[in-house]
Amino acid sequence: MIEYFHRHLGAKLLLSYLAILTVGLVVLVVASQFLLPASFNRHMGGMGALMNQGMGMRMGGQGFGNAGAVSLYADFRAGFNEALLYAVIAAMAAAIMLSFLFSRRVVAPVRAMSRASQRIADGRYDERVEVNGEDELAQLAAHFNQMAEKLNRVESMRRHLIGDISHELRTPLTAIKGSVEGLMDGILPAAHETYQQIQVEADRLNRLVDDLQELSRVEAHAYQLDMRPLEVSSLVRTVTKRLAHQAGSKRISLNLELAPDLPRILADEGRVLQVLTNLTDNALQYTPEGGRVAISAKRINNNEVQISVRDTGIGIPAEHLSHIFDRFYRVDASRSRSRQAGGGSGIGLTIARALVEAHGGRIWAESAGEGQGSVFNFTLAVVK
Ligand SMILES: Nc1ncnc2c1ncn2[C@@H]1O[C@H](COP(=O)(O)OP(=O)(O)OP(=O)(O)O)[C@@H](O)[C@H]1O
Ligand SMILES: [Mg+2]
Repeated sequence: MIEYFHRHLGAKLLLSYLAILTVGLVVLVVASQFLLPASFNRHMGGMGALMNQGMGMRMGGQGFGNAGAVSLYADFRAGFNEALLYAVIAAMAAAIMLSFLFSRRVVAPVRAMSRASQRIADGRYDERVEVNGEDELAQLAAHFNQMAEKLNRVESMRRHLIGDISHELRTPLTAIKGSVEGLMDGILPAAHETYQQIQVEADRLNRLVDDLQELSRVEAHAYQLDMRPLEVSSLVRTVTKRLAHQAGSKRISLNLELAPDLPRILADEGRVLQVLTNLTDNALQYTPEGGRVAISAKRINNNEVQISVRDTGIGIPAEHLSHIFDRFYRVDASRSRSRQAGGGSGIGLTIARALVEAHGGRIWAESAGEGQGSVFNFTLAVVK
């Protein structure tokens, strides 16, 4: 019961009204009890004189009669009314004081939130309000703080993102500018190689802008997933066909390991192909010539199928494993950057993670360390 009042603002308000009412009533009763005799006595003093007068009159042959009774009643009423007036004033004063105290307790946190929201609107995202108790107002304050925290994170992400993007754009732009200036000054020969170098950097810029656009769309969920039942084996075959040429040119064997009784998954075909292509492309990119890449799929429980891309490539040191899905994160930026127009902006895995999570799945990487190869796994729901 006490817990209920503790947690509900409505119950607290009801209780405070009842408290005010009770205090008013108590003050009224107590005051009238003390005030009534005094004021009655004062009026009865007048009455005493009247009675004496009446007695004298009776001796003179006239009775106390009706007039005396009426006057007694009028005096009683006057005395009672006077007492009531003081009692009402005292009760009202007590009620006003109490309601002022109660309403201050309700209004104070609302005011604090109003001031804090104003400051947040002015860009001060570190603003927080105090959380007192457990009722609805306290919950509102807690949610308000969560909102402020989130705004703060988004704001700092935005600042970092702008910094990262400027940094990413600067590298190819500086290279292009350097090559063009070299050409103009005659330091670089006007040869095919120089132009090709410029084109490679321009392509990288292009890829980067495309990737960023895709990333912002994916992260903002500005796309619709077209969920359908899909055969995992045909998805995997599509990807191996797509990347067979790339694997062939590096003499990497690209194999499939599909469990025999694979159930169908519920997913958006285009998006799953995008994830799988991203992971396989990485595996081919980070595996030296003559290596092996295998795509496997198996059912891991009643609800999920796990698809894995395993390579015998350069591997990922343990300290980098938890970061590689972060935007722009590269284990070895110089090696990734030197890649020909293919990219290497460190966004591929971020997009893959956002897509898998949009499907309700998980994605993670494993690697025994540098030079030990890597495995990238993700899960998708099976069709019920
Ligand atoms: N199979 C892999 N083997 C070893 N390292 C990998 C592998 N896949 C990813 N990485 C590491 O994770 C980093 C992030 O990969 P991600 O795909 O996000 O970016 P990227 O390949 O550098 O660029 P892009 O955005 O063009 O894909 C890579 O730079 C690389 O260091
Ligand atoms: Mg990649």
